[in-house]
Amino acid sequence: MIESDAPEPTLAQIVGGEDFFISLVDRFYDGVKDDDVLITLYPDGVDTTAARRRLAMFLEQYWGGSDAYSAERGHPRLRMRHAPFVIGDKERDRWLVHMLAALEVQVASLPEQVRQSVHQQFVAYVKNAADHLRNA
Ligand code: HEM
Repeated sequence: MIESDAPEPTLAQIVGGEDFFISLVDRFYDGVKDDDVLITLYPDGVDTTAARRRLAMFLEQYWGGSDAYSAERGHPRLRMRHAPFVIGDKERDRWLVHMLAALEVQVASLPEQVRQSVHQQFVAYVKNAADHLRNA
């Protein structure tokens, strides 16, 4: 059989589901919590527990996994939700430094045949999203 009617797996399925996003976001926030540029923006300061959960749920949903984020938070409206925080080039760049470093480590645990594709898709997405969230 050369063709299949089975739908293409989502990226969330390819990476094995929520654990990938939870670990990625944990690594990311471990960097953010020690970053003087970023941490002052966070309403709960160094207690990033709730922020970690929201970002992990959001990313899983974005990549086609569970829609728990919207069930809990409603429509993402990320630009609106970031409006209270001053995000310029400096903040965007620091955010990306931590996310790209976390991604690099996280994708290393994926099977080799999917690693590069997942990495490329994720990098393109977060660079674009971070750029789009600048408001200053
Ligand atoms: C550009 C640099 C960025 C900065 C400085 C920034 C900062 C913040 C801050 C301070 C919060 C509040 C923390 C909280 O949830 O309590 C937040 C929330 C959030 N951020 Fe960002 N962020 C950035 C980029 C991004 C990007 C690129 C994404 C998605 C790919 C993202 C997704 C989210 C989500 C999903 C939330 C929680 C929204 C909610 O449900 O309330 N952020 N961000």
